[in-house]
Amino acid sequence: MKILLSADDIQRRVAEMARQIADDYRGQPITIIGVLTGCLMFLADLVRHLDLPLRIGLLQASSYRGATTTPGALRVQPELLPDLRGRHVLLLDDILDTGQTLAYLREHLQTLGVASLRIAVLLRKEGRQQALLHVDYRGFDIPDAFVVGYGLDYNDEYRHLPYVAVLSDDIALSPGT
Ligand code: XMP
Repeated sequence: MKILLSADDIQRRVAEMARQIADDYRGQPITIIGVLTGCLMFLADLVRHLDLPLRIGLLQASSYRGATTTPGALRVQPELLPDLRGRHVLLLDDILDTGQTLAYLREHLQTLGVASLRIAVLLRKEGRQQALLHVDYRGFDIPDAFVVGYGLDYNDEYRHLPYVAVLSDDIALSPGT
């Protein structure tokens, strides 16, 4: 697999993002809501750099489930969410592809009485966004390729890699490996 972003690149950028977020919120308490499962590495690294009072919540949305081109049906499990009424919420996801997932989740969270809502993604795929969605913080723009590592998976594998790599066609085309 071709490494697109090294572990060092990612760590440096996540620390920068944390500084920018802390500057913008200026000490206000926030609730970070991570979109499972891909957000886990990004969330864990970001919060350890984030000098703000904060709570963490998670929500589950569906992912690509092994197919690299078509999204599966979106499932949202709100029971994993803390009470968000009056909270400043930062919605965190690993990757912005078409934007459908985050647009849907943003609408959902807006109905829960949040004080404010911003969005942070580690990666944004260039030229893919269909949904009109403003993203407040983004780590990297990447080319339109299927990527794995640092939380991102193919068939639930490769999430543990400390870097982001482009999934090679041999792997994507060989089932059961
Ligand atoms: P949308 O299209 O709604 O998709 O912005 C966002 C979700 O799709 C998954 N996704 C990927 N997962 N490598 C992955 O492992 C990729 O290149 C990729 N592109 C999209 C991901 O779950 C994301 O939250």
